[in-house]
Amino acid sequence: MNVTHLYCSSCGKEYETGKLYNLCVCGKPLMVAYDLERASATLTRESLAGREASLWRYREVLPVDDQRNELTLGEGMTPLLKTERLGGQLGLSNLFIKDEGVNPTGSFKARGMAVAVSMAKELGLKKLAAPSAGNAAGALAAYCALAGIEAHLFMPRDTPRANIIECEVAGANVTLVDGLITDCGAEVARRKEAEGWFDVSTLKEPYRVEGKKTLGYELAEQGSWVLPDVIVYPTGGGTGLVGMWKGFDEMQELGWIDDKRPRMISVQAAGCAPIVRAFEKGERHAEEFPNATTIASGLRVPKAIGDFLILDAIRESKGAAIAVSDEELIAGAREIARREGIFAAPEGGACLPALRKLIDRGKIKLGERVVLFNTGSGIKYLDAFDAEVKARTPRSQRQSALGPALRT
Ligand SMILES: Cc1ncc(COP(=O)(O)O)c(C=O)c1O
Ligand SMILES: [Zn+2]
Repeated sequence: MNVTHLYCSSCGKEYETGKLYNLCVCGKPLMVAYDLERASATLTRESLAGREASLWRYREVLPVDDQRNELTLGEGMTPLLKTERLGGQLGLSNLFIKDEGVNPTGSFKARGMAVAVSMAKELGLKKLAAPSAGNAAGALAAYCALAGIEAHLFMPRDTPRANIIECEVAGANVTLVDGLITDCGAEVARRKEAEGWFDVSTLKEPYRVEGKKTLGYELAEQGSWVLPDVIVYPTGGGTGLVGMWKGFDEMQELGWIDDKRPRMISVQAAGCAPIVRAFEKGERHAEEFPNATTIASGLRVPKAIGDFLILDAIRESKGAAIAVSDEELIAGAREIARREGIFAAPEGGACLPALRKLIDRGKIKLGERVVLFNTGSGIKYLDAFDAEVKARTPRSQRQSALGPALRT
């Protein structure tokens, strides 16, 4: 194992490895530090060629000590697809989609939970709890089932039904809360001590982000060790973006990539855009976004504990934060499906109108290599797509256009 210690992402305080932690005493997220020189004794770019097609191929830079604790459902090594038709339509000659919808449980959340639950197993935990916008709960339920660990999940009552059902089917304890993910988080915090739960909320434990950072490693590996010029990423709690950013630094220290970084574009829904608002105001911390609403449930995160990490990465990379409306993001998902055959989640769909705005503003050169992240599968959001179809199809045309199954 190559972990040397944990450190606070804000105050820098260091913590011994091998113990249970949530946040730093200062209230900010903890991160894992590695002896990368030691890791590079066995982990080289060349050594990856013969390894398994899951995120565990990068095990020397992951925190699990005993390989027997690595849980896998085949997460990671998702395709990086060159888009011809979509790219052509936008005038981009190098547009790619990283399709995270093909992960186990249908979203990139599998990466974080695979690593966090493996660590929970290694540290002997028996009961995990988390608030979730939906996909994280589905992933946590699946990896807990695999590990034989109890999962206690708190989701807003209007979370997509597929997310709720998949958790129940996997044997998790599900509580639906009349409120937002922040209310769900407060409920976990209130009950965890009495119930003996370990809280695996986004960035409130140090290991989910380690799983997410493999997104960055994969991008580099799939791009033959040249990172793209631009990354367009839908942002809720921000672990995807923050994780990738950490991965880039590690790979530079390993000597795998140079110091050039992609411009990180954070995409949010107009109905819940705390990061966009803070970015525009030049602030390092984002205020809680009032009355958060969006059909892209994963983006309905009004307050993120890692806000400063997201905003630092965006600014350091000379990126941007952009909001798109629900109409735009659903239209984006439909266009990705129509032109590229990928049934994207609404969150992934949000990247497309954001990209268009950047092109319109002259912020992207047409030959640049751009990677758009589809973070989940549209299959989990049938109600959202169905509602949108019904809303824009005159009642008289519904049956002929859509078939009897959609008749109301
Ligand atoms: C499909 C999808 N995309 C994006 C996000 C946002 O991810 P993060 O919280 O890591 O920013 C979520 C979170 O639930 C999600 O489910
Ligand atoms: Zn601290």
